Amino acid sequence: MAVEIRAIEALLQENRSFSPSAEFASTAILNDPAIYDVAAKDPVAFWAEAARELHWFKPWDKALEWKAPDAQWFAGGKINACYNCVDRHISTPRRNKAAIIWEGENGETRTLTYWDLYREVRRFASVLTEHFGIKKGDRVCIYMPMVPELAIAMLACARIGAIHSVVFGGFSAESLQDRINDSECRLVITADGGYRRGTVIPLKRNVDEALVNCPSVEGVVVVRRLGHGLTDETFTRMHEMRDHWWHRVAEDVSGKSECEEMDSEDMLYVLYTSGSTGKPKGIVHTTGGYLAGCYATTKWVFDLKDDDVYWCTADCGWVTGHSYTVYGPLANGATIVMYEGAPDFPDKDRFWSICEKYGVTIFYTAPTAIRAFMKWGPEYAQKHDLSSLRLLGSVGEPINPEAWMWYQQYIGEGRCPVVDTWWQTETGHIMISPLPGITPTKPGSATRPLPGILVDVLDEKGNSVPLGGGGYLVMTHPWPGMTRGLYGDPQRFKDVYWSKYPGIYFTGDGAKRDEDGYFWLLGRVDDVMNVAGHRISTMEVESALVDHPAVAEAAVIGKHHDLKGQAISAFVTLKGSRAGNSEMADDLKEHVVKKIGAICRPDDIIFTAELPKTRSGKIMRRLLRDIAEGRALGDTTTLADPGVVQSLRERYEEEG
Ligand code: WTA
Repeated sequence: MAVEIRAIEALLQENRSFSPSAEFASTAILNDPAIYDVAAKDPVAFWAEAARELHWFKPWDKALEWKAPDAQWFAGGKINACYNCVDRHISTPRRNKAAIIWEGENGETRTLTYWDLYREVRRFASVLTEHFGIKKGDRVCIYMPMVPELAIAMLACARIGAIHSVVFGGFSAESLQDRINDSECRLVITADGGYRRGTVIPLKRNVDEALVNCPSVEGVVVVRRLGHGLTDETFTRMHEMRDHWWHRVAEDVSGKSECEEMDSEDMLYVLYTSGSTGKPKGIVHTTGGYLAGCYATTKWVFDLKDDDVYWCTADCGWVTGHSYTVYGPLANGATIVMYEGAPDFPDKDRFWSICEKYGVTIFYTAPTAIRAFMKWGPEYAQKHDLSSLRLLGSVGEPINPEAWMWYQQYIGEGRCPVVDTWWQTETGHIMISPLPGITPTKPGSATRPLPGILVDVLDEKGNSVPLGGGGYLVMTHPWPGMTRGLYGDPQRFKDVYWSKYPGIYFTGDGAKRDEDGYFWLLGRVDDVMNVAGHRISTMEVESALVDHPAVAEAAVIGKHHDLKGQAISAFVTLKGSRAGNSEMADDLKEHVVKKIGAICRPDDIIFTAELPKTRSGKIMRRLLRDIAEGRALGDTTTLADPGVVQSLRERYEEEG
């Protein structure tokens, strides 16, 4: 193994780029580089051509209507996302093809063909309309484990024109409540629980806790996931009138729901994500442009063909699960794998055992997972036959060249192209990524914008930074999957994304372009952290901390972490003259978990008598990062001495 690791280092030092193999390129869906120029000449016509591959009940009048920051793609067109993901395939030989291959963490498996999916989605759509009276435009919250019913619920909403708001099952009752209330959901779809590392996540119990204060919610549908033994009072106390078992209500409806003909610009979903304030943003996506973007990018970036077995490991609680587990692949009629649990349960080879078992050909995951695999060692992958794999993807955070090489060598066995895909909840679909049959890759770079996507790197004043330099990553032209705004908050939408450079979309990321024009993503430039591929706002964690009765003030930063990319460090000032201790630190960590969810648990809490602030009262985050990463002080457990803070501040201000 030591020899092989050195080989990776050597490869890195050679600064190699990898061209698509002739074999891969010869059968790739896209293999002519001319596509970049064709798209650049007329990006709108280029996307319109892609959108034509979807089923439209009525063609659009105009491909793009653009008045920054408001875009309308394919306005006047009538389309339904569920129809494109399900109905359209059942009149083709895909009817009997596996749509979803599901594996529970406990080893249970289920396979749904497209025909099965059609029947189930139709039936559940009937539940929504006939049993609950859900109509087009109503909001429905989905808070579920990764089970097929999660995808079925999303598609059923899309079918009838209800707007889904999926909340990741790792969020706390309180976070769930905020999200339900922000978009006034009428219904919540959940499960009695889900499995994670062998323990039960009590989803229904969290829903009960959240609903104590959710006046808009009229009903709850509960999937039975845990089985009879466990669906007792501990996890599932059913409230009469309000709560209904999925399998029971599904028996009482016609099951004949038909697709609603939606306007291209009708809302498909809202998905909450962290911004640089404490309040999560409800990112809005509409139907036609979003679906066209997801459909086309899935096909191009993953070279997705009919005989592929495609596995994106993201939970549907995140945008990656929306665009690249559900909408993109199913619109392509693909076979997708869905797995409920953790990568290291019961052992660290679980992902590879799944790849082997189902013959996965395309595998898409996050750098944080890849770094964990690296740490565990290649032997877990080597225990399995991974020869079915033919393409690997990465998403969610910058991938370090070493992790990229390890992925390519040990998982891809040197054979599979690696596509590092940059995008955001707001962009809806992939924006910067290699095309695997065309674009040479460089370990650690997302390479270049996809055809039809116009990207630039700007300096503070808005000038384009020449190749070789770094700056702020922006989009200079609208694209089909772009968010149409923040739910109920048009002003914040303008302020956050469109005010730094008028008419230009500001991503919040920094990027560098090398001499070849390749993009190297540098992470967030705002107060958003990226912890294990999850976006978390510093302010959100700070608000959770100051909510604790003992806390006077808190400042949160993301510090470098080898596996997670960033870890959360919190600097806390207690009320009165209280001194912090380890019990208090644990108590505060638990408080954050309860307020937001386990993904936001701070790694360390540093007690300080005073927070270092500039004279104008701004918290000096860069200094806090220095302290947390051990650059400014040896002992990082306490900053009790205000003199220390004072001297740090002076030094900081001197350094500018
Ligand atoms: C980061 C996830 C570098 C970036 C799809 C972005 C990346 C934020 C990459 C969006 C990548 C995502 N390389 N950074 N390939 N992909 N990011 O909304 O900072 O959860 O702004 O969407 O993740 O996170 P979000």
